[in-house]
Amino acid sequence: MNPTITVTGTDITFDCPQGATILEAAEDAGWAIPYSCRKGACHSCLGDLERGQVDLRTTGTVHGPTPDVLLCQAVPRGPVEIRPRRIADSTPPARRTLTTKIYRAHMPAPRITVLELRFPIGRRTPFRAGQYLMVHLPDGDTRPYSMANPPRDNDLAELHVRTEPGGRFSERLVGALRPGDLLTVETPFGDVTVDRSPDPLVLLATGTGFAPVASLVRDQIARRGTRPIHLYWGGQTEQDLYLLDRARRWAQRHNWLTVTPVLSRPTAGWTGATGWVQDVALAENPDLTGHEVYACGSQAMTDSAFSTLTRKAGLPEDRFHADAFLPVGPSL
Ligand SMILES: Cc1cc2nc3c(=O)[nH]c(=O)nc-3n(C[C@H](O)[C@H](O)[C@H](O)COP(=O)(O)OP(=O)(O)OC[C@H]3O[C@@H](n4cnc5c(N)ncnc54)[C@H](O)[C@@H]3O)c2cc1C
Ligand code: FES
Repeated sequence: MNPTITVTGTDITFDCPQGATILEAAEDAGWAIPYSCRKGACHSCLGDLERGQVDLRTTGTVHGPTPDVLLCQAVPRGPVEIRPRRIADSTPPARRTLTTKIYRAHMPAPRITVLELRFPIGRRTPFRAGQYLMVHLPDGDTRPYSMANPPRDNDLAELHVRTEPGGRFSERLVGALRPGDLLTVETPFGDVTVDRSPDPLVLLATGTGFAPVASLVRDQIARRGTRPIHLYWGGQTEQDLYLLDRARRWAQRHNWLTVTPVLSRPTAGWTGATGWVQDVALAENPDLTGHEVYACGSQAMTDSAFSTLTRKAGLPEDRFHADAFLPVGPSL
């Protein structure tokens, strides 16, 4: 018999198919728990294990009660009771596979390509700021890329692709794409989204982690929102902040937005912030108890931001959301 999963404080219960994780079982049963990487790296799916035992894919068995269990890694060994940070009826994802056309491909910096895709006429595909799409490679393999356009522009996608040396998509395919070429994508994916609360929002990005952050900012511009947003964008050198002029223009036009570029290997003459984005954000915001934070980019940054900001600045764990740009290889 399949183990039963019960959600504390609700009347939600569902079965867990043999070998499935709690996140997978919830989705099969029509419930949405926040997630991003599904690989145990981003902490988006944290929840408490109140009762029962689970096998964690990398670290072994844990027994309830245990706080902060990664539900994307937890395979129940019997009936369990959990308390996820959030659980909601999942509206069926209006996910579509589309043959898109390359409208423009340009390189604002040496290792960065901004790809603009146009969807077929009449194929608008709703998504939420912060979500990503899957590019289908010719052999059926897939790669996730965040959408940088605001949700109102849902008949197109703007992707920011960093060239990985030897990368099957980012180097070999992207380098050969020309306007008019076709690219198959499936969209949307990802369940990390920020609240619509008025609390100040801190956005942390490294490199092309700027893409979903740009979507969030452009969404607020399009909705004429005024929620205070502070964007910290980090890279090694100025070239990594490949659209900084664009971000600065947004900040000049909207007084609710502050943009702080941060370099870890600044060249002579750099007068801005230096170090790691999460450390600079902490130094400027020692009390984050009333804030929400979304971090996107390297796993090193998202991991460090989670522990630094929750432990040292009092950021509640369920107010931290992240997407880590993990190498996915053929298995995702
Ligand atoms: C949710 C999500 C969203 C993402 N969004 C973006 C995005 O908006 N922009 C973007 O540029 N990337 C993004 N990525 C990463 C992207 O999906 C690919 O992994 C990356 O572009 C490499 O794909 P590839 O086919 O070129 O390389 P592959 O052929 O898969 O790998 C080639 C080599 O590069 C290494 N490698 C691959 N990816 C990385 C990485 N991220 N960091 C370090 N080394 C790596 C591999 O280990 C391998 O050695 C995202 C990843 C996830 C999980
Ligand atoms: S979705 Fe579980 S850690 Fe990222």
